Amino acid sequence: MKHIFPLFAFALAALVSCGGNNGEPVNVSVVPNPVSIEYGGRGLKMKQAGWIPAVRTSIDSGLAAEEYILDTRKGKVVIKGGSDAGVFWGMQTLYQILAQVENKGLDRIPGVLIKDKPAFSYRGAHLDCCRHFFSVEEVKTYIDMLALHKINVFHWHLTEDQGWRAEIKRYPKLTEIGSVRSETLVGHYGSDEYDGTPYGGFYTQDEMRDVVAYAAERFITVIPEIEMPGHASAALASYPELGCRGAGYPYKVQTTWGVFPEVFCAGNPETVTFLENVLDEICDIFPSEYIHIGGDEAPRDEWEKCPKCQALMKEKGFTREAELQSYLITTIEKYLAGKGRKIIGWDEILDGGVSQSATVMSWRGAKGGIEAAKMGNDVIMTPNSHFYLDYYQTGNPKENGEPLGIGGNLPLRKCYSFDPFDQLNDEEKAHIKGIQANMWTEYVATFDHVQHMTLPRLAALAEVAWSNDNRTDYDGFVDRIITGLMPIYNTRGYNYAGYAFKDIE
Ligand code: ACM
Ligand code: ZN
Repeated sequence: MKHIFPLFAFALAALVSCGGNNGEPVNVSVVPNPVSIEYGGRGLKMKQAGWIPAVRTSIDSGLAAEEYILDTRKGKVVIKGGSDAGVFWGMQTLYQILAQVENKGLDRIPGVLIKDKPAFSYRGAHLDCCRHFFSVEEVKTYIDMLALHKINVFHWHLTEDQGWRAEIKRYPKLTEIGSVRSETLVGHYGSDEYDGTPYGGFYTQDEMRDVVAYAAERFITVIPEIEMPGHASAALASYPELGCRGAGYPYKVQTTWGVFPEVFCAGNPETVTFLENVLDEICDIFPSEYIHIGGDEAPRDEWEKCPKCQALMKEKGFTREAELQSYLITTIEKYLAGKGRKIIGWDEILDGGVSQSATVMSWRGAKGGIEAAKMGNDVIMTPNSHFYLDYYQTGNPKENGEPLGIGGNLPLRKCYSFDPFDQLNDEEKAHIKGIQANMWTEYVATFDHVQHMTLPRLAALAEVAWSNDNRTDYDGFVDRIITGLMPIYNTRGYNYAGYAFKDIE
């Protein structure tokens, strides 16, 4: 636990000061909602402004890995965890309690016994660093935001039509050419205005390793996403011979948003070699059990016309291009399995058949996830209906002064209402491994804006993913965010959507 405490020392010093409880019983607010909170005992008297309570931590092998018990009843702070991760999540809870003590001007940390563990082992948040690029420092701040909410997976979207962001040493053109677009659309899709300014950025391998290490210190796994066979324009602008139109075609890093016909040529063996070589380097950087291979929004029109793709289909006896997509994904899945890794793919990987060992990320609502769970596949639920954080937070974004979003209407209440087990029996429920929120950034160009879109809705994601079994009171949830999390958002300078707490139309 040596590495945990220093992360907190300064923060606690800044937060804790003296005040008066005036003998009033004080409840504590924690998000995500713990399994149980019992009040009792004397708690701890705050000694002086800036006093840091000693935290006695230990590992209890009787607890599940991420489970913890936080006890402040007997004049000291004791945290037991099933592992270092459990202790770390207990520290996040303590951190919220101390923020409340400071914010309410109390002179005691209340006496509590909190017993807590997560409902889901995978609690994820994604960030698209391709449509817009975010610096390593900003990515680390995002990881800090996840840790505060007990989110333990950072899904890092690294390749796209509009920019390839991961340095791959064997293919330097991916970043020399693929990381820069010539300009960017201004305003919404459909606009014909462009800013005329080149836009780019990428992460070196050392920087990605640094992010992985930073996340690991916070018990967060980084899952990289390398998109295939679609969303490949930036890769094809760099290596046009890997597309169906071949080396002579002027592929470009896209300057607008949407779904593009330019996809990797699945019939070209060099494409598979390329993808495998890229994944070799990715696996070297990212130790995660899972690698995300994309699979979404890949039009098959080019495959229909491509001699190489058609020849491979004939050889394999495929009658539909969807089978070709399935073949490519399965080939890559087997390759990664040889390296001890598993794949996650967006729900389109169900088209044309998917192997039982692939994990399906359900984004077009929960439908794909329900279908996959019924087929016996593992599922991560990231339905756009509930967890696409690029959607607006009210029904009247203009009138309410919301910054640009992609569209939609996804208020905090709706995020909170998601039922991960809808339509599933007990056996199928066991395949729902986790829940995730996605932060696509076509319309979100600054990190301040990312925070505005993610906070406080990330709290609802946390509440579903960690506290699914203890989630019945929306108004109480909002109160807990305001009391337990908002003081921390304020102290850390996180931007958040204040209007999201109110049920405004
Ligand atoms: C996606 O939103 N295209 C996965
Ligand atoms: Zn082809």
